[in-house]
Amino acid sequence: MMQIAIIGATGSTGKELVRLALEANYNVTIVVRNPERILFDENVNVLKGNVKDLESLQLAFKNIDFVISCFGPKNNRQVNNLLSIGASNIVKACESNAVKRFVFMSGFVQADYGELSFTTKLLMPFFRLIYKDSYNDKVKAEEAIQKSNLNWVIVRASGLKKAPPERKYVAGVKTKIHFVMLPYADCAKCLLDAIVEKKWTRQIINVGKI
Ligand SMILES: NC(=O)c1ccc[n+]([C@@H]2O[C@H](COP(=O)([O-])OP(=O)(O)OC[C@H]3O[C@@H](n4cnc5c(N)ncnc54)[C@H](OP(=O)(O)O)[C@@H]3O)[C@@H](O)[C@H]2O)c1
Repeated sequence: MMQIAIIGATGSTGKELVRLALEANYNVTIVVRNPERILFDENVNVLKGNVKDLESLQLAFKNIDFVISCFGPKNNRQVNNLLSIGASNIVKACESNAVKRFVFMSGFVQADYGELSFTTKLLMPFFRLIYKDSYNDKVKAEEAIQKSNLNWVIVRASGLKKAPPERKYVAGVKTKIHFVMLPYADCAKCLLDAIVEKKWTRQIINVGKI
């Protein structure tokens, strides 16, 4: 059985991802800050870790085939370099453990304007202003990943919402995305699919609602 480690497993996307990874018969390890607070399926291997603590990641990724990250700050306007520090540490820990693929969840605010629908383009200056810290930190995070020798996939998600999965999404390199909310579960499915999708290797992809 292939081994997946998930960072951000207690979050809105992460919870859906854990469920889908188990359904897909992966062996699932989650790396969380407060394991004592968590009630997860008994088949999940729960390890204590923090993306700011490289050593905790180095230990957690032993014998792991794939790493999917969907961690993020509680408040997108108070980022404190969490994303860039976390992404750099995950890259280092993946490299030293010869992880086969690293999938990183990013956001549509990072996308080139040409990849956005007309209305989304109009909203972008507003988003980039409101989420200035998050935008700048994700630029650094994505750069650290792209500089690595890993088989990475950066997944830039559209806006997301808590809703039943529709089991469909549109995704790909420079795929046009709209400002329409995608259920968290469908974004999680795309992150899981990015583990095996060969044409997404070392690519930035967009994911959104069809
Ligand atoms: N929500 C959206 O509409 C949307 C759209 C596009 C992109 N994104 C991006 O996608 C990512 C995930 O979004 P989300 O809404 O699913 O996240 P979320 O619900 O806010 O969950 C964040 C997760 O990150 C974990 N985390 C925070 N700091 C950590 C640390 N230092 N070490 C390890 N884990 C840590 C949290 O764990 P604890 O339980 O320990 O707090 C939690 O599991 C974020 O980067 C976000 O900016 C979100």
